[in-house]
Amino acid sequence: FPAMRVLGIESSCDETAAALYGDAGLEADVVHSQTDLHAEHGGVVPELASRDHIRRLTPLVETVLDRAGLTPADLDGIAYTAGPGLVGALLVGATVGRSLAWALDRPAVGVHHMEGHLLAPLLEPEPPAFPFVALLVSGGHTLLAEVRGVGEYRLLGRSVDDAAGEAFDKTAKIMDLGYPGGPALAALAAEGQPGVYRLPRPMTDKPGLDFSFSGLKTRVRLELEALGEDRQARADLARGFEEAVAETLAIKATRALGATGLETLVVAGGVSANARLRATLDARVAERGGRVYYPRPAFCTDNAAMIAYAGWCRLGAGQNEPAAITVHPRWSL
Ligand code: KG4
Ligand code: ZN
Repeated sequence: FPAMRVLGIESSCDETAAALYGDAGLEADVVHSQTDLHAEHGGVVPELASRDHIRRLTPLVETVLDRAGLTPADLDGIAYTAGPGLVGALLVGATVGRSLAWALDRPAVGVHHMEGHLLAPLLEPEPPAFPFVALLVSGGHTLLAEVRGVGEYRLLGRSVDDAAGEAFDKTAKIMDLGYPGGPALAALAAEGQPGVYRLPRPMTDKPGLDFSFSGLKTRVRLELEALGEDRQARADLARGFEEAVAETLAIKATRALGATGLETLVVAGGVSANARLRATLDARVAERGGRVYYPRPAFCTDNAAMIAYAGWCRLGAGQNEPAAITVHPRWSL
């Protein structure tokens, strides 16, 4: 493989990020979150997201180069998130990435955002070895895949409705916890008692590896009507919701290990930051003699380190693409 130092760019939703990954490992990474910009609207406003990416991205690229003591000429390639995501937001990263690549006469590659998440645990000091089962739990996607190597993914199951993160966000909204809802709901659940509310573990009684999370928020809404403002009861309910999601994910993930005969589970995406989910998965997978790998918390949610790394793998292996600015707002892994 040629020596390779890749600039990674992420702008698929409400985080703008840049990072440098090279043969010596991760050299720099920065993330700017737009949370404050969208909070007053209760969710991501696509047009506001695109405009903020335009404002932030070029300065962030300069920041990572400065931090690593490098100039654009030191880059050997560029990777940007090409999808899935918000079309306007994606186009900002794709345009900046492709333009830089053209100006520097370097190759560029459009990375699948979920491949970025999937490979994020490989950035850790003790990375998992291939093959493994990946459980990807983000705001837009929930899926299980068998991973034999970079680019060798077999889909085992996915959510037929809401993603796990979406379930957290929508339930948090019903409970008036603001945006983004996942961390807020987890914080409330931490004050709750286990076992007070037993919510369903959807689709675990039937065989198969698909998920369905949209019914849980309805259950929470119904329970909430009976509760009023009782803070402890609300915390108990949040705890019940979190347990239902964590248990459901753990049941299906261990089922996927059984079905593939693998012992290594890799968990990534925003919801993999959830402490209860981690504890549940660790316990269930340890019971069967397996091991679970996660990214560090900062690389569970959207970041450019995972995009730079995926690009480094792909460009290093000689992947070549036409120099067109193309994005895929909907794109299967
Ligand atoms: O991967 P990510 O940053 O963006 C997407 O690609 O979607 O995931 C964001 C999702 C949001 O739904 C957010 O509420 C959820 O991850 N999330 C959490 C936690 N931290 C982030 N959900 C539960 N517990 C957390 N600690
Ligand atoms: Zn993501």
